[in-house]
Amino acid sequence: MEDRLRVVADMVPPGGVLADIGTDHGILPELLLKEGRVQKAICCDISEASLSKARRRLAGHPNAEFRCGDGLAALKPGEADIIVMTGMGGHTIADILRHGKASDDALFILGAHSGLPALRRFLMENGYAIESERVAREKRRYYVIMGVRRGAMILDARQLLMGRFLPEREDAKDYLWHLCHILEKGARYDPKKRAALYRAKEALRENS
Ligand SMILES: C[S@@+](CC[C@H](N)C(=O)[O-])C[C@H]1O[C@@H](n2cnc3c(N)ncnc32)[C@H](O)[C@@H]1O
Repeated sequence: MEDRLRVVADMVPPGGVLADIGTDHGILPELLLKEGRVQKAICCDISEASLSKARRRLAGHPNAEFRCGDGLAALKPGEADIIVMTGMGGHTIADILRHGKASDDALFILGAHSGLPALRRFLMENGYAIESERVAREKRRYYVIMGVRRGAMILDARQLLMGRFLPEREDAKDYLWHLCHILEKGARYDPKKRAALYRAKEALRENS
């Protein structure tokens, strides 16, 4: 089990119906069904070839279903109350949310491999609020996983870059310094990014 998917699994509240959008190998649904943490898992993927990996992994499992389709189009409205999208880029996740329909009460667990600031901005501008954030580490890579629901939030430039709650969190410090290091290159020619990065570093130093 990858640390990243373990973190995602721990963010899933017990007893619900899970839709894993972009399930690929189906590792997360398998884990959650094995642990009895969800009553049903709907494994969705845009690629039949990817979905076939999940079909094989979960063959014969009575509470697993498989759907081939683009994003949330594979689901009936209100069918799932926990919707996971991980291992995709932030722009893809934003597109799926933009074009899809889900229950207003659904919990989204989002783990974008890239494009996090753009995804946070999309969430802020489209009536979503980040409720929780966790950082997973695998080998030398960090992954931010967000729990998101319908709601309002306003993020400043630092939060768009670093997360809604992570800048205040002691256990996110290693990740945030690592991120500053990466962002330094991109900020070199962009005064707005440079100012946000400067403030972020100041805040990290103050909280250390
Ligand atoms: C790298 S895998 C991620 C697998 C797993 N979710 C994880 O986090 O390890 C990305 C999967 O997303 C699927 N995918 C990409 N765009 C999609 C979309 N619009 N709707 C559904 N699945 C999509 C791909 O086919 C692929 O199987």
